[in-house]
Amino acid sequence: MKIAVIGTGYVGLVTGTCLAETGNIVTCVDINKQKVQMMQQGQLPIYEPGIETLFHRNIIEERLFFTANLAGAIADATIIFLALPTPPGADGDADLSYVLGASKDIALLISSYKVIITKSTVPVGTADKVKAIFRQNTDVAVAVVSNPEFLREGVAVEDFMKPDRIVIGTQDERAKEILTELYAPYVRQGNPIIFMDERSAELTKYAANSFLATKISFMNEIANLCEKLGADVDMVRLGVGADERIGKRFLFPGIGYGGSCFPKDVQALAKSAETNDYDFKILHSVIQVNSLQKNVLINKLNAFFNNDLKGKTFALWGLSFKPETDDIREAPSLTVIGHLLKAGAKVVAYDPEAMNNVKALIGEKIKYADDQYDALIGADALLILTEWSVFRTPDFNRIKKLLAGPVIFDGRNLYSPHKMAGFGFYYNSIGRMAAGPKYAAVAPL
Ligand code: UDX
Repeated sequence: MKIAVIGTGYVGLVTGTCLAETGNIVTCVDINKQKVQMMQQGQLPIYEPGIETLFHRNIIEERLFFTANLAGAIADATIIFLALPTPPGADGDADLSYVLGASKDIALLISSYKVIITKSTVPVGTADKVKAIFRQNTDVAVAVVSNPEFLREGVAVEDFMKPDRIVIGTQDERAKEILTELYAPYVRQGNPIIFMDERSAELTKYAANSFLATKISFMNEIANLCEKLGADVDMVRLGVGADERIGKRFLFPGIGYGGSCFPKDVQALAKSAETNDYDFKILHSVIQVNSLQKNVLINKLNAFFNNDLKGKTFALWGLSFKPETDDIREAPSLTVIGHLLKAGAKVVAYDPEAMNNVKALIGEKIKYADDQYDALIGADALLILTEWSVFRTPDFNRIKKLLAGPVIFDGRNLYSPHKMAGFGFYYNSIGRMAAGPKYAAVAPL
């Protein structure tokens, strides 16, 4: 099938590349000519494991094209994906100007039936707005479809190729047939394509993300309570997750969820409820708990160092909001860094992928280490903020030698407290009892 993907951000590129991989001819459109040129030359503007091979293969095999020319891209495409940004507007609502602007441009150009698909996460009712734009600007029949994406950064290719489900909101029978055929290669294991109306499809995306965020905030509160009660959240997590109605995934406590989706989508759903005269009480708590959770490590540090972080140096492992991505949007690390700098502390950070993004945001306010061990030299404590694999089995003796004091605050529960105490560390994690001797702040080894 011939497909145009409008917008070559994260979602657009993953969608375009993965659709080309199953034999479709895909043209990705972007208004940024420089970016288009880059991609034409085979340069990928995003970091995402697994995409590079598919990207190059499909360019070489002439199934994946890039252009700044919208008219040319959509002329003989039956399916047009809108993968455009929907940033928060001034009033907290999603700014739909890109989606609606592109819809109008497309409406003025088309001369044959098209399936117009919104991939961006958009407020309920957006499909109706897009439909109105087509009605006002063209007599050509189109199907406007809501087909939200559920891709996780870091495993987006896998999620696209083998989705748990595909949600398609449309009443248009022809579009249903076309999309059933388009997605057939991706649901061969028997996972469902769920057809529904446009509004339900739009709401499904917000409901899914808000539910997952609720699961995390709930577990973060259980973790905080575990520390008060002397329980171990890892055990509680296993016990609770073994109930299939709850499920064992997404129950890991930490230092709060971040990223480009959860914070924005939970806020947007709460706002949308409010606008429609409904007070979505749980979501307010989810947001509040998450914002408090981003401070948990700082509170622990203050307790340990008697509220005196001034002049101390802290080594940070991990800056991205989660592993396998360079994305730092709403990352807990930024909150932690903000507090540390405000308290007069020095920060030396290491992250396998995200250091450039942090540097672009805050510059040289902190130091960036060349590798994870360099970050530790002379630091008063190590703070683990992202669970990158390279942090999972480090050389603990080396860590101990390099730090000024053997103190680790782990926001991701990577190590066994018992084992860490054995190594002679003071080790404080989330929802588990602190282990090891409580060293004085700058105790010599
Ligand atoms: C999410 C959704 O999973 C995806 O379906 C949607 O399309 C986009 O938003 P993503 O933002 O890539 O994907 O990240 P995800 O892996 O879901 O993690 C989100 C946040 O939750 C991260 O900050 C992560 O650290 C946190 N998290 C996740 C936890 O704190 N505990 C968990 O058990 C799982």
